[in-house]
Amino acid sequence: MKRIVILISGRGSNMQAIVQRCAEQRWPARVAAVIANRPEAQGLAFAHEHGIATAVVDHKAHASREAFDAALAAAIDAHAPDLVVLAGFMRILGAAFVQRYQGRLLNIHPSLLPAFPGLHTHRRALAAGCKLVGATVHFVTPELDHGPIVLQSAVPVLQGDDEEALAARVLATEHVIYPQAVRWFVEDRLVIDEGLVRQRDGASQVLI
Ligand code: GRF
Repeated sequence: MKRIVILISGRGSNMQAIVQRCAEQRWPARVAAVIANRPEAQGLAFAHEHGIATAVVDHKAHASREAFDAALAAAIDAHAPDLVVLAGFMRILGAAFVQRYQGRLLNIHPSLLPAFPGLHTHRRALAAGCKLVGATVHFVTPELDHGPIVLQSAVPVLQGDDEEALAARVLATEHVIYPQAVRWFVEDRLVIDEGLVRQRDGASQVLI
C-alpha cells in the first residue's frame, strides 16, 4: 500500500478528486495526510470528514523560506510518503525541499506547460488570443512550474469565454488527469527517461 501526502492551500478540489478516485478505484494506495500552509484552507474539512490526518504548517509562522520548508518536510516525513502531491499549493518551494522529494513530487498547473508558468494563467492565455488552453501534471523540479510532463488536458477557448468560465472548464479536466497521473504513479506505471515521462502500457498521456 503506497502512502500519499497531499499539500493544499485552499479549496482542495483536486485533492478531493484524488481521495475519491483512490477509494472508488481501489488503488494500491491511501491518502495518509492532507497538509495545508493556511489554517483556513477549506479542503482541510473534507479531509477531516474522510478520516484523513490533517496538519497545518503556517508559512506566516516561519521567519524564512528555509525554516518553512524544513517544518513542512518534517510534517510530511511523519507520514513516510511514497508520493507527495501538490494540489493548489500556492507556496514556492526551495531547491533543497524539491530535491528531497525528487521523483516522487507531483504538481498540477492550469496551463499547457511550458506556456504560462506562474499566476493568472487563464487571463494571460485569453490576452494572448490562445485558441487552446489546458492543464499539466508534472514532476516537480526546482524551476517553478517546470519538470517532466506526465499528462496534459486540452480545452478549446470558446467565444465569449472570460477567465472564470475558462478556469471552470479547465478545472473539470484537472479532476480527471490528476487522479489518473497519481494512479499511474502508485501502480508503478510511470518511467522518467532523460526528463521525459512515459506510461509503461503506452496509455494516452493526453485528454482532449
Ligand atoms: C487548480 O487550478 C490548480 O491547477 C492550481 O490551483 C488550483 C487549485 O484548485 N494549481 P483546488 O484547490 O484543487 O480546487
